[in-house]
Amino acid sequence: MKLIDGGSISREIREEVRVDVGELNSRDIHPLLATVLVGDDPASALYVEMKSRACEEIDIKSNNYQFPSEVSEEELLDLINRLNNNSEVHGILVQLPLPEGMDVGRVFRAIDPLKDVDGLSPVNMGNLLLGDESMVSCTPKGIIRLLEYEGVELAGAEVVVVSHSVLIGKPLTMLFLNRNSTVTVCHIHTRNLAEHTRRAEVLVVAAGVPQIIKEDMVGEGAVVVDVGTNRVDGRLVGDVDFEKVKEKASMITPVPGGVGPMTIAMLLENTVSAAGRLGGK
Ligand code: GUN
Repeated sequence: MKLIDGGSISREIREEVRVDVGELNSRDIHPLLATVLVGDDPASALYVEMKSRACEEIDIKSNNYQFPSEVSEEELLDLINRLNNNSEVHGILVQLPLPEGMDVGRVFRAIDPLKDVDGLSPVNMGNLLLGDESMVSCTPKGIIRLLEYEGVELAGAEVVVVSHSVLIGKPLTMLFLNRNSTVTVCHIHTRNLAEHTRRAEVLVVAAGVPQIIKEDMVGEGAVVVDVGTNRVDGRLVGDVDFEKVKEKASMITPVPGGVGPMTIAMLLENTVSAAGRLGGK
């Protein structure tokens, strides 16, 4: 079994992005990411802090905007509008989840697609469907990058994705289809999950349920990618029963240190490519 080390792969990518930042700086372009946090979810606050710290480490500037959970949609849209029109801003990231009752679709429709470093606006989602991957959601993009880095053959592969979310399952499915994988998408309503997961040559799990994937649900030699980030008794636990499943898998991502660091690396990459496309406009 090979452990897929997302920490070290993401460090390599961050060094490449750092070089790109230097190149942009020499053309007087200074990449700037605006992060928007609504409400007081401690996990979201931590993620946003990790993202802006990762930016600073490679000289990407970050401006952080924070609203209480009672903020009106209009106020949030007003900020997005100002960020869209601010030529110094290259990337806009609205951290999810938004408070209950807020129209996430409306918020993401408001973000300029050229600055939508999360790839969640309808234009970028549609482009992905059409095979244009110029701005793709960071976690799915990071998962594909890990698999390609490890030389996993995706064309024709039996892939099973346990997630049909907008953030992970849907864009990830498109990324696999763009690489000619055969994809089965499972989710909370799927009957007999194990029947599907056992067939997978590549199994990606983002169900948000601690250790939902047990060893008897995984085929011998499968490549297993665990996107779970569940807090259990103060510990970070994945969606895969790692200790047992690792005995059957040919490759597996740990939690933490697998997909997580890749999400951040892809955000940096998206921000710098947005800056490159927007330039000093
Ligand atoms: N919440 C959890 N993951 C993500 C992500 O990739 N982007 C945003 N905006 N929010 C998230």
